[in-house]
Amino acid sequence: MKIEICVGSSCHVRGSYEVVKNVEAFVKDQGLEQDIELKGCFCMGHCTEGVSMKIDGAVLQVSEDTVVELLSEKLREK
Ligand code: FES
Repeated sequence: MKIEICVGSSCHVRGSYEVVKNVEAFVKDQGLEQDIELKGCFCMGHCTEGVSMKIDGAVLQVSEDTVVELLSEKLREK
């Protein structure tokens, strides 16, 4: 699974740093380092709706509180 989290200025203000930290902690806790590729990326043009992230190319809006649950859901669907 490839995860990209926007570190553009608007997403940064909305907490992308905390989102990255939560994702990193989740990946480590679950021992998923081999299965998940985590990268930062620049503005995806969805600045108004929360922190933007891409999971396998699909753009989603998350917050530091919702990202772990969303990720768990996506992993269950795999
Ligand atoms: S700054 Fe993140 S989508 Fe624009």
